[in-house]
Amino acid sequence: MARFPHNDGMEQQQASAERGHRWFAAFYQLSASAMERGAVGRIRRELIPPLAGDVLEIGAGAGANFPLYGDAARVVALEPDPHMIKRAKERAGANIEIRVAPAERLPFPDASFESVVSTLVLCSVDDLPQSLAEIRRVLRPGGELLFIEHVRGAGVLGRAQDIVQPVYGWFAGGCHANRRTERALRAAGFAFDRIERGKVNPLLPGIWGIARPE
Ligand SMILES: C[S@@+](CC[C@H](N)C(=O)[O-])C[C@H]1O[C@@H](n2cnc3c(N)ncnc32)[C@H](O)[C@@H]1O
Repeated sequence: MARFPHNDGMEQQQASAERGHRWFAAFYQLSASAMERGAVGRIRRELIPPLAGDVLEIGAGAGANFPLYGDAARVVALEPDPHMIKRAKERAGANIEIRVAPAERLPFPDASFESVVSTLVLCSVDDLPQSLAEIRRVLRPGGELLFIEHVRGAGVLGRAQDIVQPVYGWFAGGCHANRRTERALRAAGFAFDRIERGKVNPLLPGIWGIARPE
């Protein structure tokens, strides 16, 4: 039996009213299995160890990270899209509580978590600086942000991403192909214990690693 009840009531209705991309959730689920077989799956397994203590995952989507957490972590997984939540619930173990909330307004007191996990989410949040300020606020001293994000490329690729962004964003449920996430993390006062740069799929450049508030 679940240690935490899954919140089905008011929060979820609120999320339905706020956002929800039924077709994007279905499409994402389809494309996700290809990504999991490729670089993203490999990076997840390598980056996210079984964690301990209080863990917050933002934009948990369909719960792709859930199998990696292990039993020692007490995980709160946030997701604003009710269509994604439906899929995440099917995967959640007893130590994973799923709640409806956006990264811009984390419903927790300061210094609540040892770890925050964000995989392919900072590209989608509406307000990146506000989301990073919230992550910083809820991390305990010495806490860590584990991240995998696709980002704006350099040179011609970056300019092409800028040009296609209006159309891409519409099709991709509000995702931004051209975010300068590494720069935004530094501007928000994070320093990197580890950062790697590469491709998260054959087209998209990405960054992944561990950051901590300075
Ligand atoms: C590409 S999916 C990634 C899902 C999951 N993290 C993964 O690694 O497979 C992006 C997720 O971010 C969520 N999202 C969009 N806007 C958000 C926001 N403002 N705050 C938190 N999550 C958000 C979407 O609903 C979606 O589930």
